[in-house]
This record gives sequence, structure tokens and C-alpha cells, in this order.
Amino acid sequence: MSDTGDFTPPQRLPAWTALVGHAQQLANHPLSALFADDPNRADRFTLILENPTEMDQSALVADFSKQLFDDETFASLIRLAHEARLDEGIQRLFDGEQVNFTEKRAASHMSMRGGCPPPPGKGADTHDMRTFAFDLREGMLVGSTGKTIRHLVNLGIGGSDLGPRLAVEALADPRGNIVGGIELAKVAFVANVDPRELDTVLAHADPAATLFVVSSKSFSTPETLANAEAARQWLRSRLGEGIDISAHFAAVSNAYDAAIAFGIRPDRVFPLPDWVGGRYSVWSAIGLPLLVAIGGMFDDFLVGARIMDDHFRLTPIEHNLPVWLGLTDLWNASFLGIQSTAALPYAHGLRSFPNWLQQLEMESNGKHTLRNGHRTEAATAPIVWGSAGTIGQHAFHQLLYQGTRKVALDFIIPVGEDSDPRQRILVDNAIAQAAALMGGRDLDAARATLARRNLPDAEIERLAPHLVSDGNQPSTTIMIPRLDAFHLGALLALYEHKVFVQGWIWGINPFDQYGVEHGKEIARALASGKTDKQDASTAQLARLAEEFRLRMR
Ligand code: F6P
Repeated sequence: MSDTGDFTPPQRLPAWTALVGHAQQLANHPLSALFADDPNRADRFTLILENPTEMDQSALVADFSKQLFDDETFASLIRLAHEARLDEGIQRLFDGEQVNFTEKRAASHMSMRGGCPPPPGKGADTHDMRTFAFDLREGMLVGSTGKTIRHLVNLGIGGSDLGPRLAVEALADPRGNIVGGIELAKVAFVANVDPRELDTVLAHADPAATLFVVSSKSFSTPETLANAEAARQWLRSRLGEGIDISAHFAAVSNAYDAAIAFGIRPDRVFPLPDWVGGRYSVWSAIGLPLLVAIGGMFDDFLVGARIMDDHFRLTPIEHNLPVWLGLTDLWNASFLGIQSTAALPYAHGLRSFPNWLQQLEMESNGKHTLRNGHRTEAATAPIVWGSAGTIGQHAFHQLLYQGTRKVALDFIIPVGEDSDPRQRILVDNAIAQAAALMGGRDLDAARATLARRNLPDAEIERLAPHLVSDGNQPSTTIMIPRLDAFHLGALLALYEHKVFVQGWIWGINPFDQYGVEHGKEIARALASGKTDKQDASTAQLARLAEEFRLRMR
């Protein structure tokens, strides 16, 4: 399919029209009735990814049966995928074609984990980065005073932060990076240009033993460069002005010259090719802090993702996990009009998963321009938010039960061992929340609940309406046996591919991000004191901020 030539906007496909009709029929249909009508529903709408590295073990189970669709809808969604020639899209993605059609680039991040070859004529060698990471991890690198480096601080934002931060939180040993009784380098992340974040990380850091990795694909992101400059000043002020501090820096970037100009040693600029998008980059040299934190387990992380790649590439779309996940969320957003998706990982280690997913989904598919340059009429990416369960239960689940909005929910459950009863509590809570948010509680059930508390009849009647919840919040539940590197890799790759599925069917480019450039331009103008071209409110705010600053001097 060329950019425009034989492209058909999705709304002109016959299956799209059929789905509009299904949506009208099903929008207010009780999910519990769909279960009552079909005893095999749970089984039929569940997909399992087998783990080829462990015989007879499921790597990942995804239960879609609590989604608001029936067989006919689902068949139409699959038909939509065929009519949109999704299989051709998947092939082109894995063949290294320029699926990033605006920037004329491949999106071959899968090649960083062996899931496909690099784009024709290109490659990315992570050998030097790996050697560097292992040397750092094992205490073989020294700073400018000869002291062993024990502390890595990653300076990066967006894709140069969210993926490795999430994976380190999920996989690094919470007791510290200790192997064979030896304490290895510890890893920290700084993304915000608010000085407080870097100050907090450096408050107890030893400058002689600290190394900063400037992670920036473009090496032009102002927040990252400002933090890198602040790190340089911190080192100079602590180690002495005249000292060569280059031993305390490395960089991951596609902009070699800019990194060198900053003062990074040539052998410490680890490349990030242009065909690996920032939000798809945790598998590449951007994963350096993760490699330092988890060592050889990094390879299990890549293997888990590669198994998802193979599944996505080779499995017919009728049984394909990322395709089901993509179609389900497309159904919710474009047909049922559900504009909000909550990611609910029931694992403290996945607390940053919603943040990672926000960038992945909203920066990829939060777009309105079709590949033919016209404006789409479909609702595209929803608003993604969430938090770790059970934290969210005690904060926002009230709205999910009794608010006035429909929210699509992704429950993510790493089951884990049962040696600690709290792990079981966590998992039971996740399963129970999905059930209660689907089933709801009608007035009779509310009355029965109150009657069990032995309340007088008048009190029951007064309170019962306040206990009613509509239910029917659609959810997908993704279960993995445990939160380890392999399963995390498979989980993240699942979401990466589902975003591709949606972008392809919507006819938009998931791999560019022109929108975010606009705000950056205005920030640059304000930084140089230019407010004449801004609206009156913006000019006023800039002036007021300046007044506050002057008062605090
Ligand atoms: O927010 C825009 C963006 O370009 C993201 O796509 C990217 O992940 C982030 O900024 C950081 O970019 P870089 O790695 O070039 O510093």
C-alpha cells in the first residue's frame, strides 16, 4: 500500500459500517446477559500465548470475555482487520519497510530483540554498550579520581526514560544490586527539568563514584540537556574545576556529533538508530540502565518480547493476541465512544506501566491525520491513565462503580508465588474488581445487602439507591505467571504491537510525533523573552512569572 494510492479510509470499509450498527445494538446491553446466553463465552474469548521455552507452560493469558461484544461483532472486527489488509501491514512492519511514512523510516525496534532483521542495509550493534554496561555493573569503571563508579544516573525523558524506568522498577532486586555479596552499581532516573528531581537523586550521591548517562535520541531535548548541564556543574563544583569529568558521562543517542560537542568521549556514545522510535527503544542501547540493574536477565527480557514478535508475525489474525487487543480497544474507542482507558496493573513493580502506556498509546495514536492527508472522522486513541492496583481501588474506583462515565479497563495480573499471603490478596482483588465492575449491583441486590446488616426497612429504602452501581464497565484481563524479565518483555511487546494494529486500521502513523513539537517552539520563544507573537493570556502569564522571579531574587 503506498502512502495514498490504494489507501481506503477505514470508515469506507464495509465492516466499519456493520460495526456502527452493532454498536447501536450493544452499547447498553448488559455484559452479564452475554455470559448468561453463552456458557462458553469465557473460554471462547480467551487467548493463550504458550511459552516455547518452558514445555506446557502458558506465558500469557488474555481474557477478553468481559468486553462488550458478541460473536457477530467480533466476526465483524476480524473482517475489518482483513478489509484494512492488516496482514499486509504486519508483513511490511517486519520486512523493515517505511511504515513510518511521514518520516520515511522503518520501525524495526523488533530487530533489537531478534524479532526481525534490521532494515535493509542497516544495523545496530549493541556490543560496545553491553561491554560498558557489564563493566559498570561489576565495578570495573573508575571516575576521574580513580574511585569505582557505583551509581548510574540516567538523564532522559519520554521514551528515553519511561521504558527503562518501568523495567528497572519491575525487575531490579528491591534489596539492592548485590551479587555474590558484592554491591554492584545502583541505578536512578531523572526526567523532570524541575531541579528537585535531580537534587533528590544527588542528595546522597558521591560525585567521585557517579556516572551520568545522557539518554536522548535527538540529543536536542531541552529538559535532558539542561539536566546534563546541571550534572556537569555539580561534578565540577564537587570534584574541582580543573578536573576532567568525561569519565563521569556516557550517552545514548542518534546524534553522535551533538553528543561529542557536549563533551562525551567518542567511545562512550552508544548509537540509537533512527528506525528505533523513542517510545519503542527500551530494547536498544536506551536499555543501558536496565542492563546495569539486571545483568544477564536483560536477555530474558528480549526473548520474551521476541516470542510475542513471532506470535504477532506468524499467527492468523483470528487468533492473534495483539490483533485481538487492538481490535477490542478500537471497538471501544471508535464504535462504543469510550474515550478513557485505565491500565490497572496489580503489581507494585508495574506502577509506572500506566505512564509508559500513556506515551506508547497517546503519542503513537493520538492523531487525526490519515495517511492520505485528510482528517479522520473516527475517534482514535483514548485517554490512557491508571495506577497500580490496589492503590487505585482506594482512590478512583468509586468513579468506575458509580460515576457517569464508561471507562475501558485493562487488568494486568502477575500471579506470583503464594509464599506471602499478601500476594494472594492482590490477585484476588484484581479478579474481584473486574467481576464487580462488570456485574454491578441493582436495587434489589442493594436492598439485600442492607438487609443483611439488620437495618430497619425505612433505612434500607433510604440507602439502597446509593449502593446501586451500573456495572457494565468493559475489561480485558491479562495474566502472567510472575513478573520476571521474560514475561515483562512479552507484555510490553504485546502492547507495542497492539498500537501498530490500531494505527494501521485507523490509517494513521503511530511512529511520528509532530504534535508535541508545537509547544516546544513556544517554550523556546518564551525562553528568549519573546512574547509579542503570543496571545494576551500567554504573554500575561510569562510577564507574571517574570515578576515572581524578580521578587524572589
Ligand atoms: O516528547 C517528544 C519526544 O520526542 C518523544 O517522542 C521522545 O521519547 C522524547 O521526546 C525524548 O526525545 P529524545 O530521546 O530525543 O531526548
